[in-house]
Amino acid sequence: MRVSVIGCGHLGIPHAAAMAELGHEVIGVDVDRAKVNRLNAGECPIYETGLPDLIARQTVSGRLRFTTEIREAADVAELHFIGVGTPIDADGRSYDTGQVYGAIRQLAPHLLHDRREVDRHGRHDRPGHRPRPAPRAHR
Ligand SMILES: NC(=O)c1ccc[n+]([C@@H]2O[C@H](COP(=O)([O-])OP(=O)(O)OC[C@H]3O[C@@H](n4cnc5c(N)ncnc54)[C@H](O)[C@@H]3O)[C@@H](O)[C@H]2O)c1
Repeated sequence: MRVSVIGCGHLGIPHAAAMAELGHEVIGVDVDRAKVNRLNAGECPIYETGLPDLIARQTVSGRLRFTTEIREAADVAELHFIGVGTPIDADGRSYDTGQVYGAIRQLAPHLLHDRREVDRHGRHDRPGHRPRPAPRAHR
């Protein structure tokens, strides 16, 4: 399957590399160009046991690549994983979902076919469903 991982941080990089290891074609997207360049060179910018070998092997295999252009992910991928940050809000009691909805708003205009949103519990909305306004997620 062709998949994208939008947000390549502590969660997104291992997820992207593991999906490639399983045989999927993976495109990782991040706004941090320096990080994207390092990843495409087969370097691992975070510490995780075994991950450097995985990144090096899968970038050479051609199944794993990274970009700053979200349009590329929209063109290529059939399934999009959103792995951007959800930092604790200034009030210290809720998660700021601004990055999540920011990424969806950047991706959505490039999607030409029906897509489903699936949250991390596996629930999904109707095909073609539009992103909802950003809520605050309370702990
Ligand atoms: N780190 C973990 O162990 C862990 C475990 C379980 C769940 N999570 C969840 O996974 C999510 C990501 O956490 P993380 O620790 O990987 O965060 P992180 O801060 O390490 O990485 C987030 C990445 O998203 C990128 N980003 C932000 N906006 C973007 C956009 N519009 N387009 C593309 N890239 C964008 C940032 O540049 C950064 O590289 C959070 O919701 C977190 O709660 C993390």
